[in-house]
Amino acid sequence: MNEIRLKLKDLGTPVRIGEPVSLTIDGKPVTVAKGTSVMRAAALAGISVPKLCATDTLDAFGSCRVCLVEIEGRKGYPASCTTTVEAGMEVRTQSARLDELRRNVVELYVSDHPLECVSCSANGHCELQDVAVSLGVEDSRYGLGENGYRNVEKDHSNPYFAFDPAQCIVCYRCVRACDDIQGTFALTVDGRGYASRVTAGQLENFMGSECVSCGACVHHCPTEALIEKSLIDHGAPDRSVTTTCAYCGVGCSFHAELSGERVLRMVPDKAGKANEGHACVKGRFAFGYATHRDRITRPLIRESIDQPWREVGWDEAFAFTAARLRDIQQRHGRDSIGGITSSRCTNEETYLVQKMVRAAFGNNNVDTCARVCHSPTGYGLKTTLGESAGTQAFNSVAHADVVMVMGANPSDAHPVFASRLKRRLREGARLIVVDPRRIDLVHGPRIRADHHLALRPGSNVAFINAMAHVVVTEGLEDRAFIEARCERGPYLKWREFIAGEQNSPELTERITGIPASDVRAAARLFATAPNAAIYYGLGVSEHSQGSTTVMGIANLAMVTGNLGREGVGVNPLRGQNNVQGSCDMGSFPHELPGYRHISDPGVRGLFEQDWKVELRQEPGLRIPNMFDASVAGHFKGLYVQGEDLAQSDPNTQHVEAALRGLECLVVQDLFLNETARFAHVFLPGSSFLEKDGTFTNAERRISRVRKAIEPLAGLADWEVTMALSKALGYPMDYAHPSEIMAEIARLTPTFAGVSYAKLDRLGSIQWPCNDAAPEGTPTMHVDEFVRGKGYFAITGFVPTDERATRKHPLLLTTGRILSQYNVGAQTRRTHNTHFYSEDVLEIHPFDAEERGIAEGDWCGIVSRAGNTVLRAVLTDRVQPGVVYTTFHFPSSGANVITTDNSDWATNCPEYKVTAVQVSKVTEPSEWQKGYEAFARRQEELLDKARA
Ligand code: SF4
Ligand code: SF4
Ligand code: SF4
Ligand code: FES
Repeated sequence: MNEIRLKLKDLGTPVRIGEPVSLTIDGKPVTVAKGTSVMRAAALAGISVPKLCATDTLDAFGSCRVCLVEIEGRKGYPASCTTTVEAGMEVRTQSARLDELRRNVVELYVSDHPLECVSCSANGHCELQDVAVSLGVEDSRYGLGENGYRNVEKDHSNPYFAFDPAQCIVCYRCVRACDDIQGTFALTVDGRGYASRVTAGQLENFMGSECVSCGACVHHCPTEALIEKSLIDHGAPDRSVTTTCAYCGVGCSFHAELSGERVLRMVPDKAGKANEGHACVKGRFAFGYATHRDRITRPLIRESIDQPWREVGWDEAFAFTAARLRDIQQRHGRDSIGGITSSRCTNEETYLVQKMVRAAFGNNNVDTCARVCHSPTGYGLKTTLGESAGTQAFNSVAHADVVMVMGANPSDAHPVFASRLKRRLREGARLIVVDPRRIDLVHGPRIRADHHLALRPGSNVAFINAMAHVVVTEGLEDRAFIEARCERGPYLKWREFIAGEQNSPELTERITGIPASDVRAAARLFATAPNAAIYYGLGVSEHSQGSTTVMGIANLAMVTGNLGREGVGVNPLRGQNNVQGSCDMGSFPHELPGYRHISDPGVRGLFEQDWKVELRQEPGLRIPNMFDASVAGHFKGLYVQGEDLAQSDPNTQHVEAALRGLECLVVQDLFLNETARFAHVFLPGSSFLEKDGTFTNAERRISRVRKAIEPLAGLADWEVTMALSKALGYPMDYAHPSEIMAEIARLTPTFAGVSYAKLDRLGSIQWPCNDAAPEGTPTMHVDEFVRGKGYFAITGFVPTDERATRKHPLLLTTGRILSQYNVGAQTRRTHNTHFYSEDVLEIHPFDAEERGIAEGDWCGIVSRAGNTVLRAVLTDRVQPGVVYTTFHFPSSGANVITTDNSDWATNCPEYKVTAVQVSKVTEPSEWQKGYEAFARRQEELLDKARA
């Protein structure tokens, strides 16, 4: 337990930055920054002052009066948490009088909070217990445990944590955490004095309130009043491993706390630079999938997908797979097989998969799920700025004066970043939301967007051009920045293009649906801000002109001089935990690690020399090309690590046809996912808790993943790829993932200075990390762009083919919800299903009424690609003419209706625009019926193997 307590050492009040101030505390000279509290100064000097309501992640509140001190020349006994240091101050933290006062306060607490520590789940990690012990308080002159809430019912409504009012000391830490850190304002203290009581919402239980289960209140509670149910059920943890969340691209750092091999809780790491001690419901609580009974822990093989699976040992599985793949290559050619890397696996694992494909398969047929999410970001930012990643660290938003959020819903998809953003908005930053749907940021507790520009799906380019048009034609450009930092010729050409009347808000209004005056006002707000930042998501990239919009965003940032310092920048909010890393590691068919083109003989030579193999110079197949080639009959073998193509890729029928066309589909995953139902080999995967490695988040931050438990199947994913490669005749020998990282650093200039030792020392590193930036690069493009001068690309608007017609009059767009994650394979196997258990169709009441659809009715949704059935939710969050759904449950068939339209530059699918018709129906679609039957059959075949 000591190790755990040490990691969580609490200095009482937050860090302050300012001029040095010197004082003495208990006779010890101390120098701290101006604004620092006496409590923190004492803690920094190794002097502990008792405290209850203070903690270093919240501003001081000063309610408990346990932290009293004496200050020479001052009357009374000021609270050390709310008193700031002054030069020459002489502070005493210990005296008989202070002891007496503190004991008295604690006795009052104890009179209201039974000291039944031995039977309490918080025994050993309760701050009231600590303070009482340190002051020698064992009973109270005011009576013991005469607590008015002994008989008040405990609140067990939340699946992950419980609230016991009898244990509450009304320190307000939970309320302040919910307000100041999470920004949800779900908690309040009801009543006064002894009758005061913490409540969620309007005297509701937690589940019935606005609470989003981020766990911040639980984390901040000094007693057992708010506590994880896992601790109630299994007792206290006895060891801790610091690692990185395996859900979204925020990349929060956690201490996995365990008892033996059982993970009891994930405690957000306040030293984690991406999250600074905060978390969301997924990373904080939804880790139970890792040991869910559906995990497959023995390799499975079969000749055809109609046959039962056969459980085999690892060696047989590798031999079987290698023989099948080599046989296919002999019969159909070297290019007839390929591999998909996983954006959920570590950098090291992803690196190995692309290496195996290039070196052992002997071709460049490797791709990754970034193909279907942020590949346009790579193309667009590389073209304009010279580097395909986001430009800032998350904490940069604290310096932004105006923030434009476009096609992203951070509250649901990047919740910990959303909390940072909301904090900045509460401090006064202005907000422009560009989204067809009224996301939570538009109007939430104590925040309100200045502009919600509810554009029509498919009109992003027209919108971003209109913004730049206003900047240019109203003389709002940052001329000095453009002159110093950007290529003149392309700029002048672009300027002429963008100033054209066709890009004016008045003419684009017909395309975007946004009133011209709103665009003009938003553009002025953005362009005149000292610091304006753009954050965007898949609502930008997943379009037929995704790459064009990304370039338009970069143009807008350059023309307004908003790059190269804190508080500004172009920030793609990456979806999966390691999608940035999987791209960095050379997962695309045309690029080796570090985004270097495979056709470059110098770069290829470097890898050939190191890998001791000749590499092909032609780029390989992208995922959609692999599918097309399979349907056409000349692509026959595919190795898929940690990716569920059958659920996540568009036009499901086409994907299924492609998977059925394969002679050998190898799936490596935790569960028999939708893709694995078409597989011939299943290799058990390992969760993030079972291996060492690194993830790279949306800020280019490389963080360590550390093994907390042994791999359930005996091998970690990197060991599986290594063994398969060996079976294919290309052995790779690494004793530990740190050796793989050493190879990556040796061959990749942006990673040249990265090592596990440095990661352990610094906690995390934002690439580029090399001789020029030995500790990493928080802000990109500071003095010049990576490509030298910034490039203004022409961004002409080309309407998508996917338009509303008489047959398909509504536009369907898709997104995520907080509690579920991507294809849901992980979160559907946790208690998060209590929050959201089915995908629904959001439809505006006008459109619903026109079709006779009422709340909860089954709706048939028909596109030119297919049809499916979802339950209707009537809401004005979506505008008339637009419908919306999530895609977390396979039986929803959301991708049965999405089409094979894709981005012109990268083939990223146009998930965000599908023309559909919606009508009331009474039964599932044919596809859904077929899906259910096929899924049942495959489960039976799996059961036979297990039996
Ligand atoms: S779990 Fe999070 S949202 Fe819910 S009450 Fe606690 S701090 Fe607020
Ligand atoms: S529930 Fe915990 S954090 Fe909240 S007021 Fe009570 S003791 Fe303090
Ligand atoms: S915000 Fe993302 S990385 Fe952080 S805990 Fe939630 S899911 Fe994990
Ligand atoms: S810790 Fe200072 S008043 Fe509570």
